[in-house]
Amino acid sequence: MTINRRHLLYLLLSATTGIATIVNKKHKPTKNISWAQTKPQIYKSENGLLEVELTAQETPVNIGDKTVYLLTYNGQIPAPQLEAKAGDKVKITLTNKLNKSTNLHYHGLHISPQGKADNVFVEIQPNQTYNYEFTIPEDHQSITGWYHPHLHGNTAEQLSGGLAGLFVVRGKLEEISTIKSAKEEFIVLQDFALDNDGKLMDSRMMSLMTGREGDLITVNGKVNPQINCNKGEWLRLRILNASTSRFYNLSLENNPFFLIATDGGAINSPQQMNSVLLTPGQRVEIMIQGDSQLSSLKMINLPYNRGAMGMMGGGMMGRRNNNNSSETLATINFVESNNNIEPLSLPNQLNSINPLPSPTQTRSFTLNHGMANGMAFLINGKAYNHQRIDTTVNLDTVEEWELINTGIMDHPFHIHVNSFQVVSRDDIPEKLLAWRDTVLVKRGERVKIRIPFQNFVGKTVYHCHILDHEDLGMMGNLEIIS
Ligand code: C2O
Ligand code: CU
Ligand code: CU
Repeated sequence: MTINRRHLLYLLLSATTGIATIVNKKHKPTKNISWAQTKPQIYKSENGLLEVELTAQETPVNIGDKTVYLLTYNGQIPAPQLEAKAGDKVKITLTNKLNKSTNLHYHGLHISPQGKADNVFVEIQPNQTYNYEFTIPEDHQSITGWYHPHLHGNTAEQLSGGLAGLFVVRGKLEEISTIKSAKEEFIVLQDFALDNDGKLMDSRMMSLMTGREGDLITVNGKVNPQINCNKGEWLRLRILNASTSRFYNLSLENNPFFLIATDGGAINSPQQMNSVLLTPGQRVEIMIQGDSQLSSLKMINLPYNRGAMGMMGGGMMGRRNNNNSSETLATINFVESNNNIEPLSLPNQLNSINPLPSPTQTRSFTLNHGMANGMAFLINGKAYNHQRIDTTVNLDTVEEWELINTGIMDHPFHIHVNSFQVVSRDDIPEKLLAWRDTVLVKRGERVKIRIPFQNFVGKTVYHCHILDHEDLGMMGNLEIIS
């Protein structure tokens, strides 16, 4: 009986999505780029093809009761949500109406770093248009990926202006009935530093050393939005930290929830937790069950100190750079429902990740800052150089990298194209087997990761995902050769 009811619900849901996708066959931006809408537009692939046109430009956006001027794709904060399935083809046309060069990076996607794919060496000048085109592998994990600009030197400024959106790849995880029937909500965390006129603060005014943070924190382009969940049903929250430098230490008022996925997709079995720290670039998926006792639950950002507090002398800018107090990011309301759905239980197995084999090569990367044409952020003592290949690896090998932070600030380390597994922290073995693409290396900490280089050759990058640090030199070129 309940199964039939649920089945009916699916039929209705898929019918609605079907109609929406037919209308959006070739997704074009609205002619007159206007103020941001309340829900980001979702563009889904149809018959194995996702085709989207994006325009990057400064636009007025309504946030709360204010009009602010941000950098947007198609006038939206966050940017339109893109959705494709494993095996799909993707065509994205990007028109640059910004006053500086830009490009696109597909963060978390396992696709080629060359040609018109995830190529961060492409430069799209103002008023130019570029056509991206790539195919997502058939066996791609179901992930909460995202896209953002990645032109060295402009990355932090453009991302902090608002240029970021979700790129969801759907696959096997969604075939699990509890996951499929859960209410799915995306949480895109962004922060903005604005002046009194609602204009983006000039980069020269920001604390780039610690990594810029803004006072206006938004969730899906809103301040403290309300999320509804039927009592007794599962809510699947898919959370992205799209901030340039801000960390989010998330809690649901200390109520337990289940972690089901990290950057690179589902973990093997749900893990109960009370809080989760998200560095810039990271994503998690968590499940909570609509509580029968509570009427609402707040998503809180708990204090976290990511270091270098003293660097700014605790002045106006310094204050911005750490979460000193808890703040409410969003509110989840549990509502009575009349569709008597019997909740399914969370399955024990979500994925089948095996630990990576012993590496054929080990390397170490020391993260710090120092002098190189002025203050710079360094990897193994060097600031980023476009021409230099820092690391050459062989396709179809597994490497172990030791990331050593000898500085006074935390650095979230990110690698493009291939996800990795964390092996240990300060020689203490990591318990959770998970695919990640960004890992926190706390000040003074040593983290070992193993990376399988699979399917794609070419030149790409690794870097600190505090994007001001990346722009100030904490990035290296990685070449994968066959
Ligand atoms: Cu999200 Cu190289 O970045
Ligand atoms: Cu990335
Ligand atoms: Cu850093």
